[in-house]
Amino acid sequence: MSFPIYRPRRLRKNESFRRMIRETRISVDDLVYPLFVVPGSHIKSEIPSMPGNYHFSVDRLVEEVKEVYDLRIPAVLLFGIPESKDSMGSGAYDENGIIQRAVRAIKERVPNMMVITDICLCEYTDHGHCGVVLNGEIQNDETLKLLQKTALSHVKAGADMVAPSDMMDGRVKAIREILDNSGYSHVPIMAYSAKYASSFYGPFRDAAHSAPQFGDRRSYQMDPGNSQEAIRETLLDIEEGADIVMVKPALPYLDVVYRVKTELGMPTAAYNVSGEYCMVKAAAARGWIDGERAMMEMLLGIKRAGADIILTYFAKEVAARL
Ligand code: PBG
Repeated sequence: MSFPIYRPRRLRKNESFRRMIRETRISVDDLVYPLFVVPGSHIKSEIPSMPGNYHFSVDRLVEEVKEVYDLRIPAVLLFGIPESKDSMGSGAYDENGIIQRAVRAIKERVPNMMVITDICLCEYTDHGHCGVVLNGEIQNDETLKLLQKTALSHVKAGADMVAPSDMMDGRVKAIREILDNSGYSHVPIMAYSAKYASSFYGPFRDAAHSAPQFGDRRSYQMDPGNSQEAIRETLLDIEEGADIVMVKPALPYLDVVYRVKTELGMPTAAYNVSGEYCMVKAAAARGWIDGERAMMEMLLGIKRAGADIILTYFAKEVAARL
């Protein structure tokens, strides 16, 4: 293939040609929309670091989920901010906790909406870590029991799928076991398999009030330099029973998305995280970039890298545009 026989520009002549040969497209079917639920009622307040995203009380959340459903977005991912926090994150596995109530309300009012719940303790612990802390160290195996309880209580409330994001070793196995032993062998697990210790979670931690009160998450989340390890982490999760695997964040780790998808061949999700979202919003607000085009280009890049599922705060905006 060489010039002048091959002239790639022939097929870029106009939008009809471009549409005809476009290899990758974003579909509403690819999207998952994350939502934040808070105690109280009649609350819909914008999250300052994530413009266009809100804290919803359960009553207003249900209205929002209806809108999301009407846009044909297949699933929402729920994060909860509890009334109070303690060292063991007990709000996470309280039968009447914020997520448990939210799931029940959604399932009652919008039963066909797929509800995925994030399984982690960091929003519920007073120290802000994703696990039990003893002598300043995050305890792995003690945490597993609490994650099991959390997952089971979400599923009992009606969650369609659980998504462990804590990065403790063995959590997929532990959650699979408790679900299987409790009559929920049909409920899938979407594992945050390659989750990196990232600066791009900053706005989320403001939104979820989940910033660690001491130290950081580098003893459990992955080191940004590693991709071989991402394959090992993901393989572990698959062996332990993950049905969908995830890479997070998305944009700085597109090589990892590509490797996970091509080498492991699993349904693969990528989390377009809060920092990736707010960078676009902030630059667009200053007139520095075209926010809509940047959004579409980012999501397309994530899909082109191999993601089957994209968790994104842009989901509503994209769905309305498709
Ligand atoms: C909880 C969790 C985090 C995110 C999703 N689940 C924060 C963290 O690990 O600190 C980040 C999502 C985002 O930034 O959009 N562990």
